[in-house]
Amino acid sequence: MIILPGPASQILGVKVANLLKNATIGEISFKQFPDGEEYVKIEDDVKDEDVVIIQTTFPNQNKCLMQLFLIIDAIKELEPNSITIVIPYFAYSRQDKRFKKGEPLSASVISSIIKNLSGDLFKKLITFDIHSEKILEFFNGKAVNISAMSLFGEYFKNSGIQNVYCLAPDKSATPRAKTIADILGCNFSYLEKTRDLTTGEITTKVKDLDVKDVNVIIADDIISTGGTMVKAIEILKNQGANNIYICATHALLIGNSKFRIYRAGAADIIGTDTVLNECSKISIAPLIVDELLK
Ligand code: R5P
Repeated sequence: MIILPGPASQILGVKVANLLKNATIGEISFKQFPDGEEYVKIEDDVKDEDVVIIQTTFPNQNKCLMQLFLIIDAIKELEPNSITIVIPYFAYSRQDKRFKKGEPLSASVISSIIKNLSGDLFKKLITFDIHSEKILEFFNGKAVNISAMSLFGEYFKNSGIQNVYCLAPDKSATPRAKTIADILGCNFSYLEKTRDLTTGEITTKVKDLDVKDVNVIIADDIISTGGTMVKAIEILKNQGANNIYICATHALLIGNSKFRIYRAGAADIIGTDTVLNECSKISIAPLIVDELLK
């Protein structure tokens, strides 16, 4: 097996290769032409190898995706045995349906390009806490979605946190809060959130939670503008919660979201290395390795 880290996931790729006993690591060189077009080159021989590409798709989704497409095409010509593609954060996954007439099915477009480029060599797509599991269906049974929530559970268990409660900031995130709560042996609940499709404005229903003087972990898949987390923090603060920890597999943290989340009263923001920034405190490398060894 040969691990090929793409430009957007080089460190994660090295971590994965180091954890695997029987894998080598290859190099992809890359640059951008003066007019903005992408260029990649596979520097190692991958003939007859099971190749694993690791390339996240944030920040700069379009650039990362274009690099990924070029990498797949370049590898295909080098006659590997198979191609596995790890996309830690799957861009465009929130456009998993046509919310309004005239919109594209963006997640399906990305999936089709990946499948068509990989052809018969395509072995598996591995991704993490994808916004909608429906996207996996575009890969005809060859896509795996891994939850990073167990890593958050272990992170907090190791921190020795006590007197704790887990909260999902919207109903769809309930299994995420439950996974962490099960590891910590604590209670969990969820809030009900709606988002205006045109303005993006979030409304979260106030709900009585038993959190007075309790530490709370809020768990979600993505933090984008931070609006979802800010609403949840406000509700918790009004009910006397103690320290509030904000967890998301993909902490995109757009614009001033970090500022807004801390200003609302968060004690910490914890993300993974599906996207890299100062909140990437947990590595998903061990979970990628477990999947590759199956
Ligand atoms: C949406 O349902 C997702 O699970 C997240 O809650 C959402 O993407 C977060 O976005 P924002 O940070 O902009 O509120």
